[in-house]
Amino acid sequence: MCGIVGYTGSVRAEGQGGTGLPASSERPLEVVLGGLKRLEYRGYDSAGVALVGPGRDTAASAKKAGKLANLVAEIEATPLPAATAAVGHTRWATHGGPTDVNAHPHLADDGRLAVIHNGIIENYGELREGLERDGVSFLSDTDTEVAAQLLAREYRAAGDLTAAMAATARALEGTFTLLAVHADAPETVVGARHDSPLVVGLGEGENFLGSDVAAFVAYTKEALELAQDQVVTITPGAVAVTDFAGRPAEGKRFTVDWDAAAAEKGGFDSFMDKEIHDQPQAVADTLLGRTDASGRIVLDDLRIDESVLRSVDKIIVIACGTAAYAGHVAKYAIEHWCRIPVEVELAHEFRYRDPIVDERTLVVAISQSGETMDTLMAVRHAREQGAKVVAIVNTNGSTIPRESDAVLYTHAGPEIAVASTKAFLAQITAAYILGLYLAQLRGNKFPDEVALLFDELRNMSRKVQTVIERGEYVRATARSMSAADKVLFLGRHVGYPVAMEGALKLKELAYIHAEGFAAGELKHGPIALVDAGQPVFVVVPSPHGRDQLHSKVVSNIQEIRARGARTLVIAEDGDDEVLKHADEVFWIPRAPTLMQPLLAVVPLQIFAMALATAKGLDVDQPRNLAKSVTVE
Ligand code: F6R
Repeated sequence: MCGIVGYTGSVRAEGQGGTGLPASSERPLEVVLGGLKRLEYRGYDSAGVALVGPGRDTAASAKKAGKLANLVAEIEATPLPAATAAVGHTRWATHGGPTDVNAHPHLADDGRLAVIHNGIIENYGELREGLERDGVSFLSDTDTEVAAQLLAREYRAAGDLTAAMAATARALEGTFTLLAVHADAPETVVGARHDSPLVVGLGEGENFLGSDVAAFVAYTKEALELAQDQVVTITPGAVAVTDFAGRPAEGKRFTVDWDAAAAEKGGFDSFMDKEIHDQPQAVADTLLGRTDASGRIVLDDLRIDESVLRSVDKIIVIACGTAAYAGHVAKYAIEHWCRIPVEVELAHEFRYRDPIVDERTLVVAISQSGETMDTLMAVRHAREQGAKVVAIVNTNGSTIPRESDAVLYTHAGPEIAVASTKAFLAQITAAYILGLYLAQLRGNKFPDEVALLFDELRNMSRKVQTVIERGEYVRATARSMSAADKVLFLGRHVGYPVAMEGALKLKELAYIHAEGFAAGELKHGPIALVDAGQPVFVVVPSPHGRDQLHSKVVSNIQEIRARGARTLVIAEDGDDEVLKHADEVFWIPRAPTLMQPLLAVVPLQIFAMALATAKGLDVDQPRNLAKSVTVE
């Protein structure tokens, strides 16, 4: 939600650099617009920029409702003047509708100060009343304009933008990242963060700010992570960090381990298609470097004492959406391997229901973005109760890992499409690594058993590739079903969360009513939904498993077919039995039962993407959704 970019530098645009001439407007504008483009995936409904430069009395700004292209057209029609510092914003409306007026930046101090904001300021009503009593008038309905006016007042009192920002941050309640530029300080951008993301990019003679590193990775990979409740001031040659009381503070340096190309479409029609194709690599990269020469799993970044991990008597996985389904899959594996009870709970439900958590509870927080507010709040709650928290996160420099006891990064690379795909596979992979590590540590599995299972996981990357290569049949089927208005998904055991994930993908991308059910639950109610021609996807377990899962699911297929369902079945190569009961079969390679979700979900992702595309919908940015949900 909301993309934020800040830039200060004294170099000219690409192609004009190295001249030693004074700063031009091109570089600041190029950086902020490019950054906003790369942050588009966060979801937004309006965009804007503000620039300041030497010799100018006011901040120049432009903002438009709708896509970035509207803003660019506005700037082309009315060019902005030369500048040395700039801020840019993509807004996802919370207070006030998505209009030109409500778009950021918001100006104050007679147009000299420009402010952009991500988050929600909860006490904005009372602050606004106070400012209005003092004679301030407002142009918009937003909480952000209140922050801008407050910052202007503090600046007039303090005469220093950094001190004014700290004072403003102290007065605000809620969640916020704020960035500001002022005409009085044409080479400075000041930012503050409280429960909302902000990362610093460190350049040569220029510096950057962004909601995440995608905002500036095209220019620098050197970055600084800010802690909670910090103010940062960037100029071309310096970065200064303080806390909200104005005391000097430190950020934590890190290097981004992917480059800008990874955040581009690379010849695919959509980011989602590209990210589906990235999945074999995401699985392989997440497994890299996790074992020593003898094959033992070594998790150097898991900074939790081994004795604590040995004493864990319950695991609670907290996450939202797709990440929660990855947690559901992991529950089957971790319980099976480690014999520790595992609960999986939506983070927002966990947070507000007085869960039973103590020092022997290990909480596993799964999040692609590392910024999901619901998950962050649940992490804090769990730690307050004494639990240790391990974060499984994809985004370096994000908040959830910093606020957890330990982190296991997934190495899926940047996920840009709003609908999660490769992060899901990487999350399952990382949770499995954690499960195998605990089994190794607690002696539930012999080293050779752990090594064997780890090898099976390694093999999954190649098998995922095979499923992707078979994607055209799935696409053709999806195209033929673009008129479907209701689709059901069934699965048992680890196939159940896969069914729920398949339904979620279809809902969010194609806006079709879709439900995922545990196949065994069918006859307890949902089978009433099945009538002639009703499409039902069924995830079929391996026929080679040691249990009766396969035959049970085949019976379920027969039950729905007898009621006229059109059965679309995901089954393992060579499963002749299922062939007799299926209208369509999407074949996947043979795999151990617990690892099958890594394969079975892929046709469901491709199906949802192809069906949405056939309906002419934007698969990268479905309506009403934001990539990073940074409000509760
Ligand atoms: C669905 C999807 C969402 C996210 C959820 C959690 O395709 O992307 O359901 O999985 O919002 O996001 P993260 O993983 O960033 O915490």
